[in-house]
Amino acid sequence: MPITPLESLNSSTPQDVNGLSEDRDFKARPLQQPNNSEHSQINGVPPAVALMQMMTGVWLTQSIYVAASLGIADLLKEGAKSVDELAPAVGAQTSHLYRVLRALASFGIFTEVAPRQFALTEMAEYLRSDVPGSLRSLSMTMSDEWQWNCWGDLLNIVKTGQPAMQKLYQVNDTFEYLTQKNPQAGALFDKAMIGWCSAIHLAVLNAYDFSGIHKLVDVAGGHGTLLASILAKYPYLQGVLFDLPQVVAGAGPLLESRGVADRCEVVGGSFFETIPAGGDGYILSHIVHDWGDEDCIKFLSTIRRAIAPHGKLLVVEMVIPPGDTPHFGKLLDVEMMAIFSGGRERTEAEYHQLFQAAGFQITRIVPTASPVSVIEGVVDLNR
Ligand SMILES: C[S@@+](CC[C@H](N)C(=O)[O-])C[C@H]1O[C@@H](n2cnc3c(N)ncnc32)[C@H](O)[C@@H]1O
Repeated sequence: MPITPLESLNSSTPQDVNGLSEDRDFKARPLQQPNNSEHSQINGVPPAVALMQMMTGVWLTQSIYVAASLGIADLLKEGAKSVDELAPAVGAQTSHLYRVLRALASFGIFTEVAPRQFALTEMAEYLRSDVPGSLRSLSMTMSDEWQWNCWGDLLNIVKTGQPAMQKLYQVNDTFEYLTQKNPQAGALFDKAMIGWCSAIHLAVLNAYDFSGIHKLVDVAGGHGTLLASILAKYPYLQGVLFDLPQVVAGAGPLLESRGVADRCEVVGGSFFETIPAGGDGYILSHIVHDWGDEDCIKFLSTIRRAIAPHGKLLVVEMVIPPGDTPHFGKLLDVEMMAIFSGGRERTEAEYHQLFQAAGFQITRIVPTASPVSVIEGVVDLNR
């Protein structure tokens, strides 16, 4: 089946939480009818049931993780299979695996086509490892031990403001943990980002016109999935892929396979020390939200010194809408709080402040068909 961009997560679409669509009237009703809850319904269920479904979301998260880790979706790609066949193939207990798959099927992830026989559904397709936009690694990294430990510390983080990673793993930041302390978790995280970001990258490519740029530097571009897509679409464009040395070391095969390696320089380093100079475009996709303002101002100021006059700074991030408006970025912001020190999603006003503090001004914010926007800036010549 075709893998589509994550349009369903964009800001204008209510989010699905455990099969519950968030309702824009969701907050108003209980306030208006505090003593009349038996008549109040949220998406067809009473408020207490709706709340309970949200509170137990971790049961679903972890069940998806089990199916993802065991590679169940890959085993079903040729057609339905009995759990008696699946369980020994993945080294699981038949009755236990059956109960997990039955629960997932009740949410439309897999379907029980005959007693104890399961098949893929549209959602389960995304748990295959061999489809574009696969979310299998994302499920696995979201339930990885370090993530659980950070989320387990959330109450403490909220009370003290102290980030979890430093305390739990004695590292300066999450990327030090992923590259140096637990490279296996790091490799899974990188793979997850490729799957998760590929749909978002496509949305960026469709929404933003890169044609005025001649040399584009992808700052912290990972293995170069976004840059490779941009270079493939704009054949005259030169690219520079910049990320930590351990990360860019693995970029060659991807750039070769996309046929853009000859137009892409690969540079390893830390953006807290240096950033390749001379580009007339600097793109940072899902980077600014990993860091607090002080750190962002450091690397954005370095770009300010490195960028060609009239060059464009392009920050690809979610822009948090005001008030109760549902947006995927609002919960992602809590994930940022849990796993990064200072990481956060930002509002439009906060992006204006950040750009200004680093010597840029925002020229426009281009929405995409995914939850992210391209925040475009130029050097602020008044500073
Ligand atoms: C969430 S990933 C985003 C990857 C890519 N931009 C994308 O959109 O797919 C964050 C990236 O930041 C990189 N990174 C973290 N700290 C860095 C640093 N000090 N210097 C350069 N890159 C860094 C990581 O190695 C990782 O590739």
